Order: sequence, then structure tokens, then C-alpha cells
Amino acid sequence: MCGIFAYLNYNVHRERRYILEVLFNGLRRLEYRGYDSSGISIDASFSSVKAPLISGFNSNSSIAPPPLVFRQEGKIQSLVKSVYQEVDETELDLEEVFAVHAGIAHTRWATHGEPAPRNSHPQSSGDGNDFLVVHNGIITNYEVLKETLVRHGFIFESDTDTEVIPKLAKFVFDKANEEGDQSVTFSQVVLEVMRHLEGAYALIFKSRHYPNELIACKRGSPLLLGVKDLEDEGSIGASFTDSKFLSSNDQPRELFLSSDASALVEHTKKVLVIEDGEVIHVKDGGVSIFKFDHAKGRRGGTLARPASVQRALSVLEMEVEQINKGKYKHYMQKEIHEQPESLTTTMRGRLIRGGSCKSKTVLLGGLKDHLKTIRRSRRIIFVGCGTSYFAALAARPIVEELSGVPVTMEVASDLVDRQGPIYREDTAVFVSQSGETADTLQALDYALENGALCVGITNTVGSALARKTHCGVHINAGCEIGVASTKAYTSQIVVMAMLALAVGGDMISNEARREAIIDGLLDLPNKVKEVLKLDQEMKDLAELLINEQSLLVFGRGYNYATALEGALKVKEVSLMHSEGILAGEMKHGPLALVDHNLPIVVIATRDACFSKQQSVIQQLHARKGRLVVMCSEGDSASVSVGGSCRVIEVPHVEDCLQPVVNIIPMQLLAYHLTVLRGHNVDQPRNLAKSVTTQ
Ligand code: F6R
Repeated sequence: MCGIFAYLNYNVHRERRYILEVLFNGLRRLEYRGYDSSGISIDASFSSVKAPLISGFNSNSSIAPPPLVFRQEGKIQSLVKSVYQEVDETELDLEEVFAVHAGIAHTRWATHGEPAPRNSHPQSSGDGNDFLVVHNGIITNYEVLKETLVRHGFIFESDTDTEVIPKLAKFVFDKANEEGDQSVTFSQVVLEVMRHLEGAYALIFKSRHYPNELIACKRGSPLLLGVKDLEDEGSIGASFTDSKFLSSNDQPRELFLSSDASALVEHTKKVLVIEDGEVIHVKDGGVSIFKFDHAKGRRGGTLARPASVQRALSVLEMEVEQINKGKYKHYMQKEIHEQPESLTTTMRGRLIRGGSCKSKTVLLGGLKDHLKTIRRSRRIIFVGCGTSYFAALAARPIVEELSGVPVTMEVASDLVDRQGPIYREDTAVFVSQSGETADTLQALDYALENGALCVGITNTVGSALARKTHCGVHINAGCEIGVASTKAYTSQIVVMAMLALAVGGDMISNEARREAIIDGLLDLPNKVKEVLKLDQEMKDLAELLINEQSLLVFGRGYNYATALEGALKVKEVSLMHSEGILAGEMKHGPLALVDHNLPIVVIATRDACFSKQQSVIQQLHARKGRLVVMCSEGDSASVSVGGSCRVIEVPHVEDCLQPVVNIIPMQLLAYHLTVLRGHNVDQPRNLAKSVTTQ
């Protein structure tokens, strides 16, 4: 949920202003992960610190001056403003040049402690900023650690769980020194700190005792290292996918650490996806990687000296354009409008003409060795949260129909809370855009423990979900930055429709249906282009609804999910209450809400449930409901009750693909309502993109 970022330039001269801008830009890219507050730490100058910004600064000290720390509540822009203001006031030289400099940065989604500068990161070991830490995740045993540290005289200033980490580092460092181990390395200190931490974390450490070095480590939360060499890559005689590329030969180099790839791609495509339990030590332009081993702690008073491991860099498959807004005002708007392309990419190479009969077939490389097991499962369990759960709900009927395997649905947190039964004979399919959602990952661990075949459906290559599942499919929707999920939802449905086709196999009885679905999939990007033309119509509708308190959305069958997801979109971005309702349940309670004031969207596109939805419209109309009906092209007359309802016509597609088309007017409505109501579309109140805490 939080975003962490670091920048280290080695053997390349960079002005302080440049360093600050790299850090701020990193934070801007990660802001969607949390935007309650932010902070950075940069080096003070050895030679010319004009004024000590942090109490405890001792200019006679033999160690580096305390790093400078800036923290600010609110969006990154307020941090930027306050840093430049403070720089002016302290006459800190923006043109000062550093041949090597290590800066760290953080953007926060508050968990422990209100959004306030003291609860922002970097968190510090105390006066002098001996150790500074930025953290994404939650330390679950922080209270016990805090009690111990308080007993040792540490004074805590924040309400965060994170503050124990830098203080523990100082405690470990001081103890090693007191015991005569003056050569203790930064990685030894961090490895010892890790031995005491429980919970999930990605951490970056900076210390005045180890100037120009950085340490990163992780357990559970995502973290990547990016490497950019400023001279000819060939000169070190190794391909960058070779582990030698991580060592330094003093050539100018920039190194970056980031919670996700979106903050790296503008600098470099050479990345290392840091694994759980790895400690990355950046020093003298080189990178050493250590594996954390809980068993290896202190030996006879001195800290364990770890052996380094070899890893190679990989190539980031992302383009800078993907993370820019282009011609659009907001990421959500861009991501809604790029769905024809994202869906095309999702299907690329996966729908092919097969065999001698020339019939079309589906090829999902990541599943091919497991299809038999899935077909023979006792049941398929779909697991996810929020929008990803709804995507699975939309796909459930077609998976049941084509595979003949019963499908059950599980909200990830609820499965874990109930410890619901999962068996070896089950296939559990985990759906997650980020691949990092803590609830989904916990449910995955639970299913793995119970021996189920675990399949992952995610947008994020290298994510924990992709790595932990037995097999899976990437949705390839491209980077999704708007906090409200849009293009990932439609790509998830398409992947699950392809999964249904793959698991269903080529039974003769299903042939016509399969062909129709595959044709429908191939034509889907065109239909989505058509439905996007409703943009102005949905803006007009948003203008009508701008002052409403609430909106109901009724759907059933394939479009029950559309009702839930449409309502979620409206509520999470426009902050208008909205509820998705299964139309079959209308008479069992929700009908009581209906009057001439409350706006209601009824989804009544052509499928097996159409006549039932017509009767729902009649009943709502009889109670003077204010109806907006979404219907298939040409059906206005059949649904508008003599022209008394507002109608939105959408292109007709194969029933199981209709949710992909139908959600788009709801996405547009949510988008326009939000803009008109003056709220932040891309960063809705209290939310963050990847929910990496439980
Ligand atoms: C809503 C939304 C969330 C996510 C949910 C799961 O627009 O984005 O409901 O769908 O937090 O996230 P992922 O798919 O990353 O597991």
C-alpha cells in the first residue's frame, strides 16, 4: 500500500536539485500506492552544511553528518513545496554536486497512526538519524519490540509500527561496537534486525555510519532493484542478464530501488525482482545479495557474516508511455479508453486456428500441463477481492457451463477468516491485478497448505501471486495506475472466458458454442470501441445524477457481477453511495427503497434472463422508480415502458462476454460523476492501489 523508492548515483556527478527531482519523481510514480503523507532523506554536505536541520548534529563528529529528513502530510506536491521552502530557509545549496549520494523516499497509506509528519517515513533511530528506514508492510510484533527498546532507553516519537526498525538497527549497531566488533557491516546489522521482525515488509535502510550505501530487504511486500550503467554496457564483458552485471568496475552507474516497476521504467529496464528473504547491499556501485537465514544469528557475541548469492538482472517489459497519461486528463480515463487495445493484448497469441478441422482453439501456455487436473477437480474455487472477485463472478457461469465442474466463489479474507474447507481435489483460482493483495496471498497460502492445485490470474509479472501459484495466466492488460480498476477487470473476464474454453476442451456437444465465444472474443475490441462512444451520453447522465445521495444497480445472471462492479466503481471514486443488487432478490427486501427520487440502473441486455429483467423493470416502474435501463441495441422500445425510462443501448455480444461491454458505461458514469463532483478520480479518498496489508 505504501510506496518506497531510493536513488543512488555512483561515480557520476549529480546536483542536489537533480537528486531531489529523481526522488520526487519516483514518489509521483508510486503515489497511487498511498497518498496520506510522504517523506525523503538526503545527505547533508560533509563540507558545507549551512545549518543543522536535525537536532543532535555534531559538526566535529568523525562520522558523516546526519542525513537530512523531510516529511509532510498530504500529497507529494506538499512535500515538494515544503522541501524547497526549507532548502531556501536553510540556504542549503541546490547546486552542490555529489559524485556519490544515497537518497530514500516514501509515500504512505496510513495503517498505524494518523497521517502526520511524525508518522511519515523515513522513520528514524532518533537524534542524529543514525539509521533511517522507509517501509511498506506491517510489523506485527512491533509492540513487543518497542517495549524492549524503551527499556533500553529509546524514546519513540511516532505511532507507527515502523519506528522500531531503525531503533533496533541502532541498538544492534551500538551493541556490536560496544562488544568490540568495529568492522560490523551494514548488511550484518540489517540481517540481525530481520531476525527480530515479524510481519510483512519491504524496507530500505540508510545510515550515517555507512554513507553512500543502501540496504534493501523484503518479506512479503514487493521490491525491485533497477540498474542503469551510464557507459557502454558491453565494456564489462557480460550480458546484463548475467550476475556479473551487478558487480561494479567503477563505471558511472545509477541504482534505484522501488516498490514497483512504474517508478523504474523511465530510468532503466534492467531490473532485479528481489525475492523474499533477500538482502540487497548497494556499496561502491556494486550490489551484493545475501539470503536471510533465521537460524544464523549471533555467534559468540559477533554478528553472523553472511555469504553472498548470485542473481542475474532481467528485462522489464514495460514502456514509459504506459505510465504516462498521454492525451487524457486522468489515468482512469486513459485506462477506460484503452480497453480495445488492452483486450487485444490479453488475447494475443492465445486464440488460434487448430488442427485439421480448422476450428479455433485456445492456447494458454501457463495452464497446458494442468488442464487435465483442472478438468478432474472436484470443484473450482475462485478467490479474489473487490473488482478481481467480481471479474471471477462474471466468469463463473461460463466456466461452469463449459467445464461441467462446480464453481464456488470465495472473497479471500472471508475464506481465511472461516478457514473454509479446501481439498487436494480442488482447483483454486486466485485472481488479482497486482498479484500482491495480502488477503488473496494469505488465502493462497492456505489453499497451498491444503494441497489444492493453485492457479494464478494476474497482471503483474514476477508478483508474489505469479511466483507462488502452481501455474497461471498473465492478463497482460498493461500497467494500471488509476486506483479504481477498469481495464484489468475486462481483461480478467476475458482470461477466465479463455480458461473456460481451455478447460472445457473440444467436446462435440459444445462446438458451436465454443466457436461463437471465440468469434465473440476476436470481435470484442471492436464492440468495446463502439460502446466507448457512449462517453458523452454517460457524462450527460452524470450531470443529472451529480447531486444524488445514492444509486442502485440491478443485474442478474452474467450481469449480477456488472451490477456489483458498476456500483463499486461509482462509490469508490465519486464517493456517492451505490449498491449492486441481484435483481432476483429485489422482492425480498430492496424493493422497499424504491420511490420516485432514488435513481436505479437496471441492466437488461439480451440473454436468458432478459424477460425476467423486463418484468423487474415493470415492477420498479409500477413503484414509480426513476429508471435508467441498459439494454442491447435496438431494444429500447422493449424496455423503456412506453418511453418513460432513460435508456442506454450497448452493442450485443455473446452472453458470457456481455459483462465486458456492459461495465464500460458504468466506468464512464463513475468517472464523469467524480470529475463533476470535484473529487480525485485517480486517488480516491482513503484507498490505495495494492492492498498489501490485512
Ligand atoms: C476497485 C479495486 C479493488 C481491487 C482489490 C483487489 O476498483 O481496484 O477492489 O480490485 O483491492 O486488488 P487486486 O486485484 O490487485 O488483488
